[in-house]
Amino acid sequence: MSKITLSTHTLKIETNSGEPLVALQRGDNKKMLAGLPDQSVSCVIQDEPYGFNPNDIDVNLYLKALIQNQDYKRGGKGINGNPWDSDLPPLSHRFELFRVLKCGGYAVIFTKTQTIHFVMLELQKAGFEIVELLAWIHTQGMPKVGSKIEKTETDPELLRFKNICGDLSPSMEIIILAQKPIDQKDRLENLRIHGTGYLNLEQGKIDALYGENSYPRNVIIENNTSVLKHLNGKGDKFQAIRYLPVDSEINQALAFSKPSVREKDLGLENENTPYEKLGLFNRRPVEGKNHHTTVKPLELMRYLVRLVSHEGDIVLDSYAGSVTTGLAAILENRRFIGAELMPDYFDIASRKLKNVFLKIEPQYLRNYQQFIFETYKARINVEKNDFFKLKLETELRAKIMQLQFEIEEITKKAS
Ligand SMILES: C[S@@+](CC[C@H](N)C(=O)[O-])C[C@H]1O[C@@H](n2cnc3c(N)ncnc32)[C@H](O)[C@@H]1O
Repeated sequence: MSKITLSTHTLKIETNSGEPLVALQRGDNKKMLAGLPDQSVSCVIQDEPYGFNPNDIDVNLYLKALIQNQDYKRGGKGINGNPWDSDLPPLSHRFELFRVLKCGGYAVIFTKTQTIHFVMLELQKAGFEIVELLAWIHTQGMPKVGSKIEKTETDPELLRFKNICGDLSPSMEIIILAQKPIDQKDRLENLRIHGTGYLNLEQGKIDALYGENSYPRNVIIENNTSVLKHLNGKGDKFQAIRYLPVDSEINQALAFSKPSVREKDLGLENENTPYEKLGLFNRRPVEGKNHHTTVKPLELMRYLVRLVSHEGDIVLDSYAGSVTTGLAAILENRRFIGAELMPDYFDIASRKLKNVFLKIEPQYLRNYQQFIFETYKARINVEKNDFFKLKLETELRAKIMQLQFEIEEITKKAS
């Protein structure tokens, strides 16, 4: 069985021989990132703070700080009252992401439309290239300003403006796809050396129904708009995808819903702890067990994981929240490193990740065994020195046997 260590500050899952599979840390991601070696992760997928703040960014001060490679801060409580959401990640964080990511690796960053240009600038300042912007379209966003004319308003000057609104429903989130430049003579060589440099077309397709030759699109659309329209509101998105002709509107798009309470609680089904902590000794019951306010759809995160990484790769999310990226990573047979600042979110995230891992453990380890086998085989095939070849073969045999032992142990225990 895998070694699982869960404390108030860390969740670690390792193989019995000590190979790390999952590492989630509580606290500021600065500390976690500082502990990672250069070029140690294959991709970054992060749903970071959007910087909701009543104070606008002072562009002059911001640019001055950017030019001097300094962090710009507004501070305060975010508009939603969340201190963690009041500022965009600092510039120093972008440099850290760039350092720990393998050359040719992708960074997938969620943003909001009002501040996306700052995020893009910072990524470029740190050395990233912007590859594409993906539009995730959904219909559940709420306007922040809304209408300001109250029903009780009597001023005739104002009443003539009764049909007004202060902003639009945010039905689109833009996801930045950036890439760390390759450091080899071409992309193929980069792929050979680091396993990065290309998108994963095979796994990046939503499934074969999009047609053999279709490339992943830069528009991701939610199911209840154009997809279900084709079924006159009947059936679900999976039926829609199954029955739609390949050249229909859905062929231009992908379909993902915002998560239901059940989906948010994945991994906590058997736990009886529906509370929200309010300070050290205070808590109140909440609806559902995962009370994180900005949970992303699991299927969307799984799709992004498949698109920018390969099985066995290490996925990094330094703003883990309730750890949807981490769940997506392990469900897609990747390894995961993450950090979460808030103790109650860390608590939820670590239990979810641990419980889901335990459910998929034998199959996960079998896939990991296959990954080890393939990566070692590739190295053995190109090794010219007989001594090193033998050494690699011996290592491979030991790893495979160790994993086999773990798999058999779990299977025995389960039956
Ligand atoms: C937008 S949420 C991520 C939600 C996540 N995608 C999910 O599905 O649950 C961003 C998270 O980053 C965390 N955070 C903010 N600043 C942080 C920091 N400096 N280090 C680590 N985590 C931080 C917040 O507490 C919050 O939970």
